[in-house]
Amino acid sequence: MTDLRALPKDFLWGVATAAYQIEGAAREDGRAPSIWDTFSHTPGKVANGDTGDVACDHYRRWPEDLRLAKELGVGAYRFSIAWPRVVPLADGRVNEAGLAFYDRLTDALLEVGITPFPTLYHWDLPQAQQDRGGWPERDTALRFADYAAVVAKRLGDRIEHWCTLNEPLCSAWIGHLDGTMAPGVTDLNAAVRASFHLHLGHGLAVQALRAAIPKARVGIVNNLSPILPGTDNEDDGAAAQRADGHVNRWWLDPIHGRGYPADMLEVYGVDLPLQTGDLATIAAPLDWIGINYYFRQVVTDDPSRPAPFVRQIRGPNLEHTAMNWEVHAPGIEELLLRVTREYGAKKIYVTENGSAYEDSVAADGSVHDPKRVAYLEQHLAACAGAVEQGAPLAGYFAWSLLDNFEWAYGYAKRFGLVRVDYETQRRTIKSSGRRFAEIIAAHRSRV
Ligand code: IFM
Repeated sequence: MTDLRALPKDFLWGVATAAYQIEGAAREDGRAPSIWDTFSHTPGKVANGDTGDVACDHYRRWPEDLRLAKELGVGAYRFSIAWPRVVPLADGRVNEAGLAFYDRLTDALLEVGITPFPTLYHWDLPQAQQDRGGWPERDTALRFADYAAVVAKRLGDRIEHWCTLNEPLCSAWIGHLDGTMAPGVTDLNAAVRASFHLHLGHGLAVQALRAAIPKARVGIVNNLSPILPGTDNEDDGAAAQRADGHVNRWWLDPIHGRGYPADMLEVYGVDLPLQTGDLATIAAPLDWIGINYYFRQVVTDDPSRPAPFVRQIRGPNLEHTAMNWEVHAPGIEELLLRVTREYGAKKIYVTENGSAYEDSVAADGSVHDPKRVAYLEQHLAACAGAVEQGAPLAGYFAWSLLDNFEWAYGYAKRFGLVRVDYETQRRTIKSSGRRFAEIIAAHRSRV
């Protein structure tokens, strides 16, 4: 039995999802295409030619999904609001039908006692905004703040917890440098500019949320990874430093008022399009920090690769998930303690943590996923370990409530606590979902 006694009494137990990964209804009620619609409909970009057109059909089936969340016993639901539903085009026009969807969802969550925990941006930039240059352009940060203000005005009377961006690293580095996520650009200059405007958009959105909702508790979600050099030679040690800058410090330093790491500015060699006051805007005080943790990175020096000139190699642990990610639970403890000690965090949520495995369905329809159960238990135990050592961890959101569209991997990778049969849209709670429910109930019974 996982010993979670160290977790605080009012610990927030939740599940997380994201709009494009579950909603489907891509052309319904005035939604316009996002960069992910464009990307997924471009041949060769997503495994099996999968798209988010239908996904889990959550746009229609959300009442059932809420019942499932309730059955797991969670106290909070982290979902994302689709910018292309709310402000579909670049003209600023608000789409009432899109807003109304999140309005209904919010009311229904509150009715069943689940705290809504929305994220304003989980990668689905309206294509029309991309056509104006997307995140490499300052205009996108300004438009993001306008959209944040619209959502805040509509839902702020009922929603307290707000997250601006999910994993801006992926939007900037994977979307604009590796090019394996939307918008599929491979240009360091564009990637660095995108990272900066994502930060600026975040800071401006914090201002918009606070202006509209005095009681708002605002945070940002970063995906972080401990970095381990592949060998103890000097070049790999330096590569690990650069990888740490690329993955962790670039995303944490500016929002904590430290500006951008000087070593990384040198590595990238790109001038930031900074205007007076921007760094202060980006460092707007936050109420909490979100950490998404999946794996640590083991790296070696590789000058033939694009900045930061590192190669990721397979981690030393024997177990890897279906994503080929090393299973390394101590990594979550390390990150929680680092954010506490180095950045002085006052409140942290693990906003995502989970694993993809190749599930099989038994003859009776049940899904036994012992590896996902073990992953969940080990990572929760590591969270409790961090709390014992002083990390102000206030909650944990499992990724994900449902199997869903796993970006460039399409539907091939399943992270859900609940299985989705994409042919029938039938939902089945997996053993991991039942185990999560048990853990939550056991923790509650002790408080
Ligand atoms: O599915 C994603 C999610 O959208 C963002 N964080 C990581 C998850 C698993 O890859």
